[in-house]
Amino acid sequence: MDEIPLEKAIGLIYPRITVLVTTQNAKGKTNAAPYSWIAPVSFKPPMLYLGIQRRETLTIKNMRETKEFVVNIVTKEWASKAIACEAKIPDKIEKSGITMKESKKVKAPSAAEAKIVLECKLHKIIETDKADHFLVIGEIVHAEKDEGLKDKEIVMHYTGANFVSPGPGYKVERKK
Ligand SMILES: Cc1cc2nc3c(=O)[nH]c(=O)nc-3n(C[C@H](O)[C@H](O)[C@H](O)COP(=O)(O)O)c2cc1C
Repeated sequence: MDEIPLEKAIGLIYPRITVLVTTQNAKGKTNAAPYSWIAPVSFKPPMLYLGIQRRETLTIKNMRETKEFVVNIVTKEWASKAIACEAKIPDKIEKSGITMKESKKVKAPSAAEAKIVLECKLHKIIETDKADHFLVIGEIVHAEKDEGLKDKEIVMHYTGANFVSPGPGYKVERKK
C-alpha cells in the first residue's frame, strides 16, 4: 500500500455519481450547477445529502430563499452541457443548451435531458465548525426515472475532468 497525502484523501472516495442541481431564487430565476458529493441519508422518508462548498454559491443562496431543489442525474448524452454549468457566468443554462421543464412538486424546474429526476424540499443546511462544505439535506418529494436508462450511460466523477461510467454488473452473495 502507498501512503496518500491527506489533501488527496477525499479523492479516494470515487467514483461519485454526477448530478445537476437545479434551483430557483425568490424571483423565479433558475440556476443549475454540477455536483458529485451526493449520498442517501434516509429510506423513510427518502432523504439525500449534498456536500456544497462553504461559500455563498448561487445554489446555496437559492436553496436558502426557496427551500427546494432538484437533483438531475447526468448521463453521457448531455454530460458536457451539465458540466458547462459549473461556469460562473450569466445565463449559463441558456448557453449550455440544457432544456428546462416544469417539475411536478417543486417550483424549481428539472432538466428535460435527465433520465432520473429527484425533486427535493430542503430539510436542513448544516454548517460544522470544521468542514469546508455545507451538509445539505433534502427530502425527496417526487422521483422519476426513464426505465430505458442503461447503467453505462450514468456519468461518475473520478477526478478533475476525468469521468467513468459503470461497466457490466455482477453479483456478490449476501448472507442475511
Ligand atoms: C463534475 C463536477 C462535480 C462537482 N461537484 C461539486 C460538489 O460536490 N460540491 C461542490 O461544492 N462543488 C462541486 N462542483 C463545483 C460547482 O459546480 C461549482 O462550485 C459551481 O460554480 C457552483 O455554481 P453556483 O454558484 O451556480 O451554485 C463540481 C463541479 C463539477 C464539474
